Amino acid sequence: MLTAPHAAAPIGVFDSGVGGLSVLRALRAQLPQEDFVYLSDAAHAPYGERTDDYVNARAAGVANYLVAQHGVKALVVACNTATAAAIQLLRARWPTLPIVGIEPALKPAATASQTKRVGVMATRSTLQSAKFKTLLESLQGQAQFVVQACDGLAAAIENDDAQMTQALCETYVRGLGDFGRQPGAIDQLVLGCTHYPLVSGLLQSLVGPTVDLVEAGAPVSLQTQRVLAQAELLFCERAAGTTQLLSTGAVDALGGNARRWLGLEVLVEGVQTDGMS
Ligand code: DGL
Repeated sequence: MLTAPHAAAPIGVFDSGVGGLSVLRALRAQLPQEDFVYLSDAAHAPYGERTDDYVNARAAGVANYLVAQHGVKALVVACNTATAAAIQLLRARWPTLPIVGIEPALKPAATASQTKRVGVMATRSTLQSAKFKTLLESLQGQAQFVVQACDGLAAAIENDDAQMTQALCETYVRGLGDFGRQPGAIDQLVLGCTHYPLVSGLLQSLVGPTVDLVEAGAPVSLQTQRVLAQAELLFCERAAGTTQLLSTGAVDALGGNARRWLGLEVLVEGVQTDGMS
């Protein structure tokens, strides 16, 4: 049973794998005094080419684990795919728990675009979701959005397969068309999957220096801070909080990426969330 959340409890963050570390990085910068428990559901990654039922079951199982085993005071769904499929279900199941999701940052990209042509890379499941379609419709007339489903890319990043990552990025960037500041070109590229910021150097080299890569880690962190403040759950009583890393799959992949992207030296704990939903 969920007891009333209290400020000293950790914030739970989850993704299908290592991608959510790009969000955790922003969260730790924005909320340095908070404790975080990050769960990578690597044993069931990737989510992006699965059915909604599968993603819903995984999201519910992982969220239940974080609530039951770690007593989290809030949940950040650091996965566009899981947010699109499951956030309503999670909010219905834990109505008093603050839950923050992530979605492709189309609006900031449309606002910043000078050519008014915006590229969007995301998983197939995110792009097919009702949530994404509603977002796209709400921005009709503000810019032209060119979308690209990036099958296999999150998995290649997850598996640290540099060759496959390079090949897929080249293919998908080419598929989006011309990039640059000239009329008719894409000048903003939305990274609509939390795995993609982990290869932003590669993507930037492919689209050129004049194109902005747009990710949502920072806005999600600000939103988390706002939601916690509203619920009077912000914790401000120490210099620095802790971060715990859990994985349902390979612990080495998560540990290596946490070291690389967050400068974090912590032991990753292997966990089992099956049967927790
Ligand atoms: N990182 C996730 C996202 O933001 C999911 C990638 C996947 O598992 O396919 O969509």
